[in-house]
Amino acid sequence: MDYLSITGPSRLGGEISIAGAKNAALPLMAATLLCDAPVVINNIPDVADIRTLLKLFDKLGSKFLFEDHTLTIDNEAVNNTTATYDIVKTMRASILVLGPLLARFGRCEVSLPGGCAIGQRPIDLHLKALEQMGAIIEIKNGYVVATAPEGLQGTRIIFDKITVTGSENIIMAAALAKGKSELINVAKEPEVVQLCEVLHAAGVEIEGIGGDELIIHGTDREPVCFEEFSIIPDRIEAGTYLCAAAITYSSVTLNHVRPDHLDAVTAKLHEAGCRVESDENTMTLYPAARLKAFEISTTEYPGFPTDMQAQFMALATQAEGVSIIEERLFENRFMHVSELQRLGASIHLKGHTATLNGPIQLLGADVMATDLRASSALVLGGLAASGVTNVHRIYHLDRGYEALHEKLKCLGAKIERLKE
Ligand code: EPZ
Repeated sequence: MDYLSITGPSRLGGEISIAGAKNAALPLMAATLLCDAPVVINNIPDVADIRTLLKLFDKLGSKFLFEDHTLTIDNEAVNNTTATYDIVKTMRASILVLGPLLARFGRCEVSLPGGCAIGQRPIDLHLKALEQMGAIIEIKNGYVVATAPEGLQGTRIIFDKITVTGSENIIMAAALAKGKSELINVAKEPEVVQLCEVLHAAGVEIEGIGGDELIIHGTDREPVCFEEFSIIPDRIEAGTYLCAAAITYSSVTLNHVRPDHLDAVTAKLHEAGCRVESDENTMTLYPAARLKAFEISTTEYPGFPTDMQAQFMALATQAEGVSIIEERLFENRFMHVSELQRLGASIHLKGHTATLNGPIQLLGADVMATDLRASSALVLGGLAASGVTNVHRIYHLDRGYEALHEKLKCLGAKIERLKE
């Protein structure tokens, strides 16, 4: 296994480009199952989660070519509607094939994703909504066995909780359902919005895009046809590098970003004493003279994103005063706390709230990544710590960050990717 060796404290400078959003690419790749003609998608990040989903498509019988961040995929020959445990357990977002497979083929078997490091991650809301659309859902031997021999029926669905992939699954199901679906309490993340925009551009009538209520007029199992399109920039990758600049008191410019997708993150960086200047697709962070403590409560978009919670916890170790971070979405998204404490951070955990005293001079140490965003928080800690920090189990990082150590190296960090 590889690990990252970081010598800090680092000073960064210069500019990097942000990749396409993994969490937009995954549902949009799943949505190609609604098409009966080849689809070309640009700006797909070359990360492990994308490669895992392509393994699943290969098993389904899809034909595709993924090179230089462009995917050309043809699902005409799909002859298998089973998403097996070995793949789904590796990447729970594989559950995103459930809605489109059921809508297009009338039946599918998708392994229950199971939980992950950050929480139990249920899919009850996905299944409840599909049943409301007329699907028969059975759980057999760890698989969701879903059938809808007459197709899915549009209906009114109120999500008990805001769920990103739940919304995406049902939006895709509704696109090919018979009649009108009204979806209430839908997630408004930019990744959900792009899925709606691509379906709308393909001729699916969708009203209310960008809001929390959608009206979707289904095609009654008529396949759709996607024009070539590009994945939106990854707002979480962008936010992570903004934190890298902030925690090292450096000025860094990001290209190929959507600043409007990062309002809550930018506002929090301003609160911490940084300045962020943006134009249409670039952002430049100017560091604080001294970082100030802040308070965060994670919530659904457009509020502060849970996927940036770990990175801001690393930043809070350098902020003057008492920072308070509340994780409201996931029950176990504090796995990075004990690892940051190994670097010397002063963090007190009580339930879903972490209280940090800063600033603390972190000291390099060996630390272990536990999940995707926790790993990036440890890299940020290593950039600020004095001495050598080795971040182990970085396969977690590889799931969602393309060429992270090369990008940081290009910004001037002393970082190497080595073999255990
Ligand atoms: C998506 O996960 C993202 N993944 C996550 O990003 C992100 O952290 C999360 O949304 C929240 O923003 C992808 O888009 C592939 P949810 P998802 O369903 O859809 C509860 C990353 O770092 N819930 O919005 O699985 C659930 O337990 C990953 O890239 C139910 O109770 O999250 C959680 O408390 C990590 N029943 C809350 O809703 C359900 O059926 C939000 O979960 C579904 C969800």
